[in-house]
Amino acid sequence: MESTVLQLVIVLALFHHLQPQSSASTLPKEALPTKSGYLPVNSTTGSAIFYAFYEAQNPSNTSLPQTPLVIWLQGGPGCSSMTGNFYELGPWRVTATVKQNVEHLALEPNPGSWNRIFGLLFLDNPIGTGFSIASTPEEIPRDQHAVARHLFIAIRKFIALDPSFKSRPIYITGESYAGKYVPSIGYYILKKNPLLPVSKRINLYGLAIGNGLTDPETQVATHALFNYYLGLINEKQKTQMEKLQIEAIELIKASNWSHATDAKNDNPDEIARIFPPVSLIIVSLISCKLVCTA
Ligand SMILES: *[C@@H]1O[C@H](CO)[C@@H](O)[C@H](O)[C@H]1NC(C)=O
Ligand SMILES: *[C@@H]1O[C@H](CO)[C@@H](O)[C@H](O)[C@H]1NC(C)=O
Ligand SMILES: *[C@@H]1O[C@H](CO)[C@@H](O)[C@H](O)[C@H]1NC(C)=O
Repeated sequence: MESTVLQLVIVLALFHHLQPQSSASTLPKEALPTKSGYLPVNSTTGSAIFYAFYEAQNPSNTSLPQTPLVIWLQGGPGCSSMTGNFYELGPWRVTATVKQNVEHLALEPNPGSWNRIFGLLFLDNPIGTGFSIASTPEEIPRDQHAVARHLFIAIRKFIALDPSFKSRPIYITGESYAGKYVPSIGYYILKKNPLLPVSKRINLYGLAIGNGLTDPETQVATHALFNYYLGLINEKQKTQMEKLQIEAIELIKASNWSHATDAKNDNPDEIARIFPPVSLIIVSLISCKLVCTA
């Protein structure tokens, strides 16, 4: 996590250079978002979600109005989705090489970019994260319902930016703590859509979560066995980890969040931190079933 935070600081520094005047000289044209800016979530206060959108490079042989839009939400809570953009799934990645103790940053095209055949939208969520604006600290969401309410407004505002977005299937994806955001906004959309005229609905087709922290109380209890049966830890380490897991779960039950986090992360061997269980959950709303869990 520390290195992610450091990388993020670097990315933010880079992104500041990306603002209008100097963009041409800092980043290649292909690395610039097709659109970026702010999606207001509260017109009274001015709070707004920052977005960066990269159109599909090859909308395949489907026409653009049928090309899916994939929304990416970073975890944290409080990590900017620019982490995903510049280090994971965006069209260009920041790489760092150290030569004679000097770090050199460069951009390289990402062959695995998610905007090869889909439009890719990064949202800095919730407000207060990354470039998103929280006009007052009180407005920063304290629960998943508030997160979903803001995301719903922001996604609708985004769709309204371009008439061709309206018909496009929407997939909402994310990792880590977005294991909470993704199902929250998915559920919110399913509840809200039937109350709206068809023209105002969000055309949700599916959800995907990588390494989601969706229900820590359940998930934390699996860490020791998961690592043990993968052969990553020995019997003694398994016993240590189980002790910490029980402690973390007790602290979660007592709503003692910061100590629960410490118990989950501060394994003496740092094992829990390095090898949390890897998972992928994909929900397709088209076939109305869970397509894949691993
Ligand atoms: C907008 O801000 C006002 C004032 O803080 C608050 O009462 C209202 O609930 C907010 N609306 C949304 C959608 O968050
Ligand atoms: C897309 O084009 C390829 C190659 O021309 C073709 O094999 C494939 O069936 C097409 N797919 C669709 C969905 O039309
Ligand atoms: C949280 O847990 C820690 C460690 O067990 C304990 O020292 C602390 O008093 C607890 N805090 C609260 C508010 O219960």
